[in-house]
Amino acid sequence: MARAFLERKELGEARLEAELLVAHALGLSRLQLYLDLERPVSPAEVDVARDALVRRGRREPTAYITGKREFYGRDFAVAAGVLVPRPETEQLVDLARDASAARGGADGLRVADLGCGSGCLAVTLALELAGSVVTAVDVSPSAVEQTRRNAERLGAAVEVLLGDGLDVLAARGPFDLLVSNPPYVMPEEAPELAPEVREYEPELALYAPAGDPDHWVRRVVERFDALVAPGGLALVELGWKQRERVLALAAARGLAARVHDDLERVPRVLELRRA
Ligand SMILES: C[S@@+](CC[C@H](N)C(=O)[O-])C[C@H]1O[C@@H](n2cnc3c(N)ncnc32)[C@H](O)[C@@H]1O
Repeated sequence: MARAFLERKELGEARLEAELLVAHALGLSRLQLYLDLERPVSPAEVDVARDALVRRGRREPTAYITGKREFYGRDFAVAAGVLVPRPETEQLVDLARDASAARGGADGLRVADLGCGSGCLAVTLALELAGSVVTAVDVSPSAVEQTRRNAERLGAAVEVLLGDGLDVLAARGPFDLLVSNPPYVMPEEAPELAPEVREYEPELALYAPAGDPDHWVRRVVERFDALVAPGGLALVELGWKQRERVLALAAARGLAARVHDDLERVPRVLELRRA
């Protein structure tokens, strides 16, 4: 029934979403839902499930309704006010792990996450790169609160700071590894966004400031010496039209740059190092 309702609303993965929402209403995992098919359902649980489906039917993101989203194999608490972690951002973690391995391990590695949102990157890196020292910053109080909450829930040691990202990090840096998934959508692209994104996710997390999709790369490049230590690198997630422009920005500043494509061959992560 839940699946049919979501299909009528033309919601992409109706079956998966129906399972997540019904499992949430029953306080079960998706797996437990299958293992316990005969479990009686109370009227209160039916009410919670109905409410969840109505919210989803209005295109509210499933993650805001269930209060969580999986990222790199762990459940992150998510609430309105922070970006829902995206699977493509996991590539930053893979690249950070490769960089750490190439350096000979993460012991003492100073890591910074610029614009931490839910904390999915900072917390994952603190857990994946054992021995690293991770600092996360966001200008949004909701993001700082959510990152602290996720760090505590998942047992990660992360220093979480509120403020303008570059000023805070430049004052604390330089770091061996700077990661960032900055806002890069242009306001005129808003009509192309899914309603879930456009109507529910925070504008501060979506839209590039000053009408400049390269704003954050430009600022990282300008302050590279204060942010990234000699021998270190920066990994910045990109929107799909930024490739040529950001490579030119890096070249103009004499930085070595490379763009990594994602699995769908979309240019996705900019890697910056001193030449
Ligand atoms: C695209 S979201 C990324 C969130 C998270 N890192 C992720 O990958 O899901 C960008 C984040 O940058 C933050 N942000 C925007 N302007 C900022 C600034 N001036 N200083 C620090 N953070 C900022 C937003 O609040 C938002 O949390």
